[in-house]
Amino acid sequence: MDNLEQIDKDYILHTYNRDYTHFTHGENAKLYDINKEMYIDFTSGIGVNSLGHNNKSLVEAISNQASKILHLSNIFLIESQAKLAKKLVELSMYKMRVFFSNSGLEANECAIKIARKYGESSNRFKIITLKNSFHGRSIATLKACAQDKMHKHFAPFPEGFLYAENINEAIKMAKERKRVIAIMLELIQGEGGVYAMPKDEVKSLESFCKNNDILLIIDEVQSGIYRSGELLASNLYEISPDIITLAKGLGGGVPIGATMTDKIDIFEVGDHGSTFGGNFLASTAGLCVLETLESFKKSNELDSNIHYFSKQLEKICKNNQKIFIDVSGIGFMRGIKTKDENLLAMIIKKAKKHHLLVLKSGNATLRLLPPITITKDEINQGFIRLQNALDEINAEL
Ligand SMILES: Cc1ncc(COP(=O)(O)O)c(C=O)c1O
Repeated sequence: MDNLEQIDKDYILHTYNRDYTHFTHGENAKLYDINKEMYIDFTSGIGVNSLGHNNKSLVEAISNQASKILHLSNIFLIESQAKLAKKLVELSMYKMRVFFSNSGLEANECAIKIARKYGESSNRFKIITLKNSFHGRSIATLKACAQDKMHKHFAPFPEGFLYAENINEAIKMAKERKRVIAIMLELIQGEGGVYAMPKDEVKSLESFCKNNDILLIIDEVQSGIYRSGELLASNLYEISPDIITLAKGLGGGVPIGATMTDKIDIFEVGDHGSTFGGNFLASTAGLCVLETLESFKKSNELDSNIHYFSKQLEKICKNNQKIFIDVSGIGFMRGIKTKDENLLAMIIKKAKKHHLLVLKSGNATLRLLPPITITKDEINQGFIRLQNALDEINAEL
């Protein structure tokens, strides 16, 4: 075990700024390292562990499935995949069908392909995305991110992406430029400072798209699966997109991506596919996550815990005015804008010292993505640790 860090450094490509804390196990929002030190996890694996760590139902569901069939390929009927698609469609209340893949970028690639094929007959192919958006790291989805820093090194990129400063500019652009087929956006930008789009602007974008036969693609890779408090942020915003993409929280830690659309006749057999997408293991996990969170929502516990978290968040922002500017985000996808990047780096480091895991986002924003099942006690413990970290920083300012 001693030289694990060295092995990692010697054998893994250095694409991550790795923290070498050796975590061994967890329990909901609590994580334990190799020395049995307990941490509160306000990151949930960057919005993935929607049921926290070691959720008994999820462990049981995937263990049972593992003892039967893990994978067969999409050539054959996959019981859990069919049931997961039905559950997703019914809970979302959209008349859609689903394509399953393995990650957020794949869900978005699929959305881009649907849009491109939909636009083929009218010779429209351009997709407008919004400033500070993040849609993935494949060559196409990197180009879809409206951030210059993403477009270095890997040229040539596919053509046909336009970048707008905001929703109003996206509408203007779609009117002025020819050949626009879709507008793609996150309702709550995850990497872009945990910024929630204004509802009235989103509603006017929806009607503009409908009136002009332009597809509205909503990237819910981070905001989906009850993170906003509703199954989808699209439900919360009361819109009906043409395409919705999901990943992260859907599998609760087992990789799965999903692209939902009401354009059910666009793809024909052979137009798209995935070896692993929605296999027995992943869709069993997805089904368990949805069933668990559906009852969590129905019992009112989710709304009550989100309300509790919000109160703590607002309090900590108000009580630390030398450090914080304002809170942002919705539900369990929250941010606190800090005065500058240096302060943000200090907070993350000090929080870690006080055994609290937090994330950063763009625009010097501290990002909090706790498990959807976090308890009030875990919320309390997390905020006490955050305040202890902030006390040390305040003392140094
Ligand atoms: C909104 C959004 N879209 C797409 C992605 C890409 O997902 P993945 O890393 O699973 O490919 C992410 C990942 O952070 C995301 O937050």
